[in-house]
Amino acid sequence: PNDIRDPASNVLLEYAKNHQDNNDSITTDGGNPVGIHTASLTVGYHGPTLLEDTVLIDELTHFSRERIPERVVHAKGGAAFGYFEVTHDITQYSAASLFGEIGKKTPIAVRFSQVAGERGYADTYRDLRGFAIKFYTEDGIWDLVGNNSPIFFVNDSINFPMFIHSLKRNPVTNIRPDYDALFDFLSLRPESTHQTLQLFTDRGIPASYRKMHGYGANTFSLINAEGKLVYCKFHFRSDQPIENLSQEEADRLAGVQPDYYLRDLYNAIRTGDYPSWSFYIQVMTPEQAAKNPYDPFDNSKVWLHGDYPLIPVGRFVLNKNPTNYFAEVEQLAFDVSHVIPGIDFSPDRMLQGRIFNYGDTHRYRLGVNVNQLPVNAPFQIHNYNRDGRSTIVSQGGAPNYYPNSFEGPKADKRARALFPKVPISGLTDRVENGLIDNYTQARLLWTRVIKEDERNRTIENILNWLRQTNSVIAERTIENLFEKVDAELGARLRAGLKAQETLTTHILLKK
Ligand code: HEM
Repeated sequence: PNDIRDPASNVLLEYAKNHQDNNDSITTDGGNPVGIHTASLTVGYHGPTLLEDTVLIDELTHFSRERIPERVVHAKGGAAFGYFEVTHDITQYSAASLFGEIGKKTPIAVRFSQVAGERGYADTYRDLRGFAIKFYTEDGIWDLVGNNSPIFFVNDSINFPMFIHSLKRNPVTNIRPDYDALFDFLSLRPESTHQTLQLFTDRGIPASYRKMHGYGANTFSLINAEGKLVYCKFHFRSDQPIENLSQEEADRLAGVQPDYYLRDLYNAIRTGDYPSWSFYIQVMTPEQAAKNPYDPFDNSKVWLHGDYPLIPVGRFVLNKNPTNYFAEVEQLAFDVSHVIPGIDFSPDRMLQGRIFNYGDTHRYRLGVNVNQLPVNAPFQIHNYNRDGRSTIVSQGGAPNYYPNSFEGPKADKRARALFPKVPISGLTDRVENGLIDNYTQARLLWTRVIKEDERNRTIENILNWLRQTNSVIAERTIENLFEKVDAELGARLRAGLKAQETLTTHILLKK
């Protein structure tokens, strides 16, 4: 595999081919031509380097500032550009401009990612995959930041950083995963059962970013031209056949081709084999939501397709690779708070935290003018925000305060009309939502969705990880999660653990 000459290996050759007549001179960042770029400016052959070596200083100072904080989660990933096209009329549900008419196309950027590891993490590690879509609409940016799973491990934002800590590097050894920490957390939060079980099925290691489905996962709302609201889930179903890797093949690739998915995506697009997905919604009226037997705003649960069928909306195609990874992918910033008139939020507690968190992390990672970077910028920004580091947008001399008498931008009547007015009352309190019916849907997954051979592989996959935690936590994981899904699953895991003694001692752990 190391001597493959595929399109991804040939980007430099291609550049050379396309620039045979290149007469560009090297310049400093100031655009000043550089005469010699391979020797510092010294006083005599062995003399010290001069402070007036502006070329060296230009290079060194830029070099020491090349890195910015990586994404705290989803750091490893790849992106591509393309378009979303409407194939079915859903204006009865949403007045969002991008759904306006059949055939309408909207430019998009899509970033796929791994969740747990850093920027150099192997693509084929067992993990969820991120699947985020940025729609550049005439009403500004809509960021739909999903995963390749319709559910998640926790269902209240306050538990998200704790879950991620348990998955990240141990603060003493810098080793990950710390199986004690991970299974300790999971076994103490039974709402993780459904997603944990799914992670160990074949879907835990897709064969390619192109060969997996995506899901908005959280519950959103749609508002139609009459102001009527329905709740909704978003689904993106791969038009490539779904394909997954065996654990053995994934392990091998992690060693020889850690960037396996990036190569696959780049090559597919470069050779014109454009990947596409079909886009669907599920809808639930507020009346149905009030009577639904499970909480429709709990993202550890799916909306059953039998009750809430998939409604086709459109498809999207990726047909353009980035030309610079840092500018167009590392700086690509998806913000869950970016919604457009006709699409809005829901009381989903994970979504509520996410609405805040992405913009916050972008201000840290990329700065206050993150949305002026070309890859993030909407077609137009008219507002009263000004200045800050790296301001690009000029606002053309418009007044910088509101209200004003000088024809500055005005409030938008359509956005006002489509703003959802939801009646809410209740007592403020902190009430757990993680303890309600965590097993029914996981049981459906185990008994109905996957077949016997996949059940066998899933058990092997769970055991591979569970054997690496200490026996108290391993037992608690079986007891609190898997056994409650299915007694036989619990029994088989116990038997599997017994068959191989764990290496760990567990001196201080109370049962
Ligand atoms: C990335 C927070 C739940 C999907 C991120 C980032 C943060 C974050 C801080 C890094 C963003 C950046 O630096 O650009 C949270 C919090 C969550 C949560 C606080 C829960 C309260 C979820 C869920 C999903 C999800 C449920 C999927 C349904 C993603 C994706 C990315 C991401 C796909 C990568 C976006 C990209 O490609 O740049 N999240 N997240 N997150 N999150 Fe979440």
